[in-house]
Amino acid sequence: MKIITAKDKKEAGRICADMFEEVIREKEDALLGLATGSTPIGLYDCLSEDYSRGRISMAGVHTINLDEYVGLGRDHEQSFGYFMDEHLFSRVNIPAGNIMLLNGLSDPRKEIEIYESFLAQNRIDILILGIGNNGHIGFNEPEPVFRTRTHLVDLTPETIEANARFFTSADEVPKKALTMGMGGICAARKICLAAFGAGKADAISRMLRDDTVDPMLPCSVLKLCSDVTVIIDQDLKDHMR
Ligand code: PGA
Repeated sequence: MKIITAKDKKEAGRICADMFEEVIREKEDALLGLATGSTPIGLYDCLSEDYSRGRISMAGVHTINLDEYVGLGRDHEQSFGYFMDEHLFSRVNIPAGNIMLLNGLSDPRKEIEIYESFLAQNRIDILILGIGNNGHIGFNEPEPVFRTRTHLVDLTPETIEANARFFTSADEVPKKALTMGMGGICAARKICLAAFGAGKADAISRMLRDDTVDPMLPCSVLKLCSDVTVIIDQDLKDHMR
């Protein structure tokens, strides 16, 4: 694992974007693995700016997202599909047909089948990951075992509370989500895990402390992957133990 400390989120976004753009320049039809949440916004801003300045084209790019709330459609403001449209897809030239999202309104079993058959035939070239305060990646929450396939999850009270800031109350946060499993994540050729702020310091410290892989700290599975860059900000670093 390579660790990079950026001055702040903005610098971290630039570092992630440079990594993504290198992959896109080498492989026009690259498959990008994408995440939602506050963490990847800097990456999406840089990609959008570079596209509008003519520095990159994303006309051949394909994307697949990590997760989605069950019960929310792409037109719901808090769905991850809506987030992606707002922060990236409406700002760059990725063809609509190249975008793979989980549909929160469809039958979860059908969505899992679609995702798994896609992942069996396609490998992500570069994947951006955020991390939860509890070490979750995607919606792979701490539990006694790792799940390899795309699956339905009950969100932990901690995650519901953390995501309540985007809803009018915690009661409105969906209680279930669909997430790519560790099989799809770990098959990615290159992974950028970005984490900012004091709240993530414990999970990152525990991950980097030793060489153990523990499903109760989901991000620790990344120690088995061959090309992982962890990008943290100075604030997180200052809080590491
Ligand atoms: P955040 O969420 O980027 O909004 O901090 C990350 C996550 O929960 O995976």
